[in-house]
Order: sequence, then structure tokens, then C-alpha cells
Amino acid sequence: MTRLARPLIAPSILSADFARLGEEVRALEAAGADIVHVDVMDGHFVPNLTIGPLVVQAVRRITTLPIDTHLMITNPEDFIDAYVEAGSDWLSVHVEVAFHLDRLVARIEEAGAKPGVVLNPHTPPESIEYVLDRLHHVLVMSVNPGFGGQKFIPGVLPKIARLRRWIDERGLDVRIEVDGGVKPDTIGAIREAGADVFVAGSAVFGADDYGAAIEALREAAG
Ligand code: DX5
Ligand code: ZN
Repeated sequence: MTRLARPLIAPSILSADFARLGEEVRALEAAGADIVHVDVMDGHFVPNLTIGPLVVQAVRRITTLPIDTHLMITNPEDFIDAYVEAGSDWLSVHVEVAFHLDRLVARIEEAGAKPGVVLNPHTPPESIEYVLDRLHHVLVMSVNPGFGGQKFIPGVLPKIARLRRWIDERGLDVRIEVDGGVKPDTIGAIREAGADVFVAGSAVFGADDYGAAIEALREAAG
């Protein structure tokens, strides 16, 4: 499939005010977000500890938007069912922790979620080439995972372009999602390189008006 005609914006709740998470998620929906991105961190794979299935369950109860759960954990195989049962529609696992990636992708499908594989900035796209046709999306990290508010790493642009070429040449129904440092001044080049879905944490939650921030991202994506 070629690039989605309309860029999808997936705000990450990592940058939300957790004292008011319910209101924040409702505000995202009212602001026109397409997807809710949930960053799960275990303090081992990344130097931060965040969200358990309990929080996904709570978010599930208050929004109909797709929940896009990003597992930054060393043992995703142990938590697939828990995060899918909690309400994740999309579930992404890092290739860097997978000894048996094909089986992991199959497990996500069997659990009923749309499978995605995540590539850290240094990880070559060749590492997922032989499972690419089984994926719903590829999540390309454009920061080193662990925190919101970091600077976009432009070195990942050629990786996005190569994935776009593979997907188009092979007629695959796979989305390219980019995550980290997505702002109005970086999203244009990311879209140009071939991305479909844009995670934005601080660009949205750092703004007073979430709707205007999402609109600005869409505008800048072109
Ligand atoms: C980082 C997370 C990202 C992050 C994005 O490990 O995976 O989703 O929350 O935040 P911004 O958009 O502020 O870089
Ligand atoms: Zn993320």
C-alpha cells in the first residue's frame, strides 16, 4: 500500500498530566487525535518505569479511539495477553528483545491485536525484513526510547524511506509509524520520507490547545 492519504496523529499519554489522565484522554479525543499512544516501560529495556495494564484498562473505559500500546520491556511475550485484554488495539514490541520475532508477532495476532515491531534508532530495517509482510505497522523510533520531549534524530529518515520503498514495491498493507521528537518543524521531512502515523507527546501535551497542536502537525505534515 502506498502512504496513507491522511497522516494519522497518535498523541503519547506519557507527556500527559497523570493526575488528570481521564480528562486528558477525553481532551485528546475532542481535539481530533486519531489514536492514543501508550508508552509501557519496565526500567530494564529503558531507564524509566511507566504504565501497567491497569492504566490501559482505565483508558479503554473512556475512549473509543484505537489504543496503540508500545512495549518497551525486555519480556513482551509475558505481557501480550494482559495488554490486549486491557484494551490495546495495536501492540508493538521491540525487535531488539525478540529471540523469536516471528512467533512473537503471531502471538500478538492470536491475542487479537494488530502487530507492530519497533526499531531503535540504531537498528537496521533488515532486522525485520522477513516478518514485514506479517505486520500491521512498523514503529520507527526517532529518539532513544525512555522519555518524552527529546530531540528528533534525523539519521532515521533514510530508514523510513527504505521501509516505504519495500512496502510499496511489495504491495504490503503495512503502516510506518514514527515516534520521538515529532514536531511541526520535523514532521514534514518524516512525512516526505514516507511515514503514515505520527506519535506526538510533548508537541501535543506541551501546548495549551491540543486541537490547534494536532492541526499544526497535520498542516506541517502536508
Ligand atoms: C519514548 C516514547 C515516545 C515519546 C514521544 O520512549 O516511546 O512515544 O513518549 O514523546 P515526544 O513526542 O515528546 O518525543
Ligand atoms: Zn512510544
